[in-house]
Amino acid sequence: MKRVTIITHPLVQHNLTRLRDRQTGAQEFRRVLSEVAALMVYEATRSFAVVPVPVTTPLAKTRGCRLRREVVLVPVLRAGLGMLDSILQLVPHARVGFIGLKREETTLRATSYHKSLPPDLAPFEVILIDPMLATGGSAVAAMDLLAELGAQRVRMVNLVAAPEGIRRVRARYPDLPIFTAAVDRKLNKKGYILPGLGDAGDRLFGV
Ligand code: PRP
Ligand code: URA
Repeated sequence: MKRVTIITHPLVQHNLTRLRDRQTGAQEFRRVLSEVAALMVYEATRSFAVVPVPVTTPLAKTRGCRLRREVVLVPVLRAGLGMLDSILQLVPHARVGFIGLKREETTLRATSYHKSLPPDLAPFEVILIDPMLATGGSAVAAMDLLAELGAQRVRMVNLVAAPEGIRRVRARYPDLPIFTAAVDRKLNKKGYILPGLGDAGDRLFGV
């Protein structure tokens, strides 16, 4: 699939399996989701542009590099929050925007209830964070908000993706890079990913 990167690193797959396990309770789910998020973002940021900079060590002058652009992390509420802290540890200078979306249970349509983002996203590298890409309705709604604010360089990190969701996102945003640990089989009749890991928000927060 074009521009979909499946992160096959053994630590990512090991942690994904723990998250899939129905026996994994909320406390462990939170910890493991956080751990796996950092590993995934390490891969997802591999292609960030850098610029060369001079640096003086205690012994000599040399050349190093710094990130070319500032970074904005955008977790989709609620479940994206479970991936935020560990990513911030890796990119501590990042700004953080929030998008609140809730998928209606019967129509599966995502409605927006919160938005807090920098007014102009054009200069930034944006990482859109949500553990689940199911029908793709939430991802498209989030991308629409980012696009309205001029975002030009967005990459999306989803722990688990359904083929249906990838297709829907692709239809509207053909060049959006998607990083995931798994492309699962399909959605069930209620729009849940099979095999998936259940409702990520509920498993994270116990509600
Ligand atoms: C979940 C998940 C995604 C969305 C994916 O959130 O975190 O945002 O569903 O489904 P979609 O691809 O079909 O839109 P949900 O709307 O359940 O909200 P929550 O995180 O607050 O539980
Ligand atoms: N949202 C979830 O949290 N899980 C799914 O399987 C689908 C949507």
